[in-house]
Amino acid sequence: MLISDGGAPKVRGAVLQPITEARALVAAADRCFVLTGAGISAESGVPTFRSDGGLWKSYRAEDLATPGAFARDSRLVWEWYGWRRELVQRCAPNAAHLALARWAADRAGVTIATQNVDGLHAAAGGPPPIELHGSLFRMRCTCCEWREDGRGPIDATSAETLPRCARCRALARPDVVWFGESLDRATIERAFEAASAADVCLVVGTSAVVQPAASLANATHEAGGAVIEVNPVETPLTAIAAISLRGTAVGVVPVILGSRV
Ligand code: OAD
Repeated sequence: MLISDGGAPKVRGAVLQPITEARALVAAADRCFVLTGAGISAESGVPTFRSDGGLWKSYRAEDLATPGAFARDSRLVWEWYGWRRELVQRCAPNAAHLALARWAADRAGVTIATQNVDGLHAAAGGPPPIELHGSLFRMRCTCCEWREDGRGPIDATSAETLPRCARCRALARPDVVWFGESLDRATIERAFEAASAADVCLVVGTSAVVQPAASLANATHEAGGAVIEVNPVETPLTAIAAISLRGTAVGVVPVILGSRV
């Protein structure tokens, strides 16, 4: 929706001229890399980590999202992940997820990589996104290579009821990347390859403080591509962005992609 405050025309806070330029850049790009963070799911009702009301404002990552935390108190960690699974299952993809999914389905050369573990890009349809930090809806064994997708409730009432490996019966854990862990090598390499080859990197809703994900935009920039950022606030990537759009994902992304004018 285009609105005007009497001065420069705006799309929920973003000045029209940069929006027009962003639209032209993505329309002309043969290859586009999209990097998303928690902000893209905020308007679906999924809490972010570092904004007002973000998870890391109420919880300590050290207690819930590290291998040490899981070793100390696997029941507490599973309880928290069970709660997040339930919360996210009450949420649906929003207009930004849907516009990206449709756009990626309609054109070759679009790669979507997300730091989110909420599965909302996949739920929106289109080509499967690169899930850099894993998925809330997959678990894996702490001992063997077993992995399983699932959306069922987690019974974290006691250590005995926690999810276990279907193959070797060892304790299972959420298949997400915790602080202090490395990302899956093939996954991050694929993302860097796509980011380096992109004419445009569209960055949506990330504080860009967690590595190596945040450096994906730098890879596009260093290879001569343009970075477009969509975020209500400045981030460390603003400095390298050709265009920074100060709006929300739902307000701006469908407009840039041409699915709303
Ligand atoms: P953050 O919570 O750090 O940042 C969310 C960003 O979204 C902020 O810059 C907000 O300004 C922006 N934002 C908020 N609402 C928005 C909206 N409606 N539209 C667009 N942007 C909006 O989340 P991430 O950057 O994704 O890692 O965090 C990165 C990683 O840190 C996460 O993947 C997670 C976390 O610890 C792991 O769990 C490994």
